[in-house]
Amino acid sequence: MISLNDSYRNAKHDRRTLVALTAYDYPTARLVDESGVDLILVGDSLGMVVLGYPDTTVVSIADMLHHTRAAARGVTRATLVADLPKGSYESGEAALINARLLIAAGAHAVKLEGGQDRAGIIAALVEQGISVLAHIGMLPQQIHEEGGYRIQGRTPQQAERLMEDALSVQQAGAFAVVLELVTPPLAREISERLAIPTIGIASGNECDGQIRVLHDVIGLYPWFRPKFVEPKADVAGVIRDAVRAFAQDVRGGPAS
Ligand code: KIV
Repeated sequence: MISLNDSYRNAKHDRRTLVALTAYDYPTARLVDESGVDLILVGDSLGMVVLGYPDTTVVSIADMLHHTRAAARGVTRATLVADLPKGSYESGEAALINARLLIAAGAHAVKLEGGQDRAGIIAALVEQGISVLAHIGMLPQQIHEEGGYRIQGRTPQQAERLMEDALSVQQAGAFAVVLELVTPPLAREISERLAIPTIGIASGNECDGQIRVLHDVIGLYPWFRPKFVEPKADVAGVIRDAVRAFAQDVRGGPAS
């Protein structure tokens, strides 16, 4: 069977734009898979949009395993990637143990945040046969250290460091790399330079693919709407209307 590394490099070579979305449970993963995306991410963003935390930093490996198992039951065709949560890959040994748990839970690959500083961990996982999706640019697991969601790559020094990050994760064996909140010109430059696909989020239109949080795309998290996402539906509104209609039936409708 063709490796993820080969199939994603081929997709880039053939200029096939990759479509990726998050999903965190059986029904949404199954619906997203049936709709034909290339990659489904059980992202640690579940900490915010499913578990109600203010950020992703408190998500545990137990949370990730629970949701990965559920999502995996719904996925038959897309690549299923699960996030290694903050603190679960501080050493090569810990990364390997936790990545193996996520693979046993049904993921085809794991994602972790970081560039040159994490290249050794990525290489160690790849060496053990675990496929890795890298994630550089804005790193949500570092939100407290960074002090907010800031655009990355604005200064020449930052841009040079990000290019080095991208080259190191490719060299370490990542099959693709997420670019988060990277200035669009730099995201384009990185995409042109790498042989593996870049999958952008808030990084312009010239990456090799795009990834979004499902809840933002379908309007299921109305309390916060990132500016860079144009919702394609208002599922929160549909739920509220359906619940109100049900309540009206129960409270005031004719007895059945
Ligand atoms: O956790 C997540 O959902 C992510 C993507 C948005 C890239 O890391």
